[in-house]
Amino acid sequence: ARPIFLTRHGESQDNVEGRIGGDPPLSSRGEAYAPKLAEFLHKRLKQEPAASVWTSTLQRTLLTARYIVGYPKVQWRALDEIAAGVCDGMTYGDIKEKMPEEHKARKRDKLRYRYPAGESYLDVIQRLEPVIIELERQRSAVVIVAHQAVLRALYGYFADKPLKEVPHIDMPLHTLIELVPGVGGMTEKRYNLLP
Ligand code: F6P
Repeated sequence: ARPIFLTRHGESQDNVEGRIGGDPPLSSRGEAYAPKLAEFLHKRLKQEPAASVWTSTLQRTLLTARYIVGYPKVQWRALDEIAAGVCDGMTYGDIKEKMPEEHKARKRDKLRYRYPAGESYLDVIQRLEPVIIELERQRSAVVIVAHQAVLRALYGYFADKPLKEVPHIDMPLHTLIELVPGVGGMTEKRYNLLP
C-alpha cells in the first residue's frame, strides 16, 4: 500500500528560543537533520514505484527537504504553520506575561482558541481539506515536510484521533512517521533520525 511519510522541518533558530511562527532558517541541529532525512528516504523510497515530496512555503521546510532529490516537489501554502497573528514572533513566556488572557484562553480550549488576527487548530484542520483530498487521490508515496500544528492535524485525521486530542498529539522534531493505510486501519512506524 502507498505510504505517507510525515516529518516536521529540522529544528529552527526560533525553536531553540521557543519563539512561535516566523520564517526562520534552520539551527545547526536542524541542518544536520536534512541530510539524514534524505539518506533515509533515498533508501526507503527505492521500494516504491513513485513518490513526491510536499512542503509548506516556509524556508525551514524547503531547507529540510533540499537534499531529497529525484522526486517532484510541491509547495503548499495550506501546509504553512498555524498563523499566530499578533503573537507571531513571541515566545510562550512573552504571551503569558504580556497577554495573560490569551494564554488562559488557549490553555482552556486549545482546539478552538484562535490567535487574534491568526488561526485556531480548527481553522488549520479546515484549510487542510484540499491537501487531504489530494493525498487520498495519490497512488504513490508522499513525503510531507511541514510543521507541528499542521502535522498534528494531518496525523489526527489519518490515525482517527478525536478532535479534542489533536492539539496535544506528540510530534517530536527529527522524527519521521510512516503511515501505511491498510484494511484494519493505519499501521505506523516512527524513526528517530537524529538520536
Ligand atoms: O514552536 C514551533 C511551532 O511550530 C510554532 O510555530 C507554532 O505556533 C507551534 O509550534 C504550534 O504548537 P502549539 O500549538 O503546541 O503551540
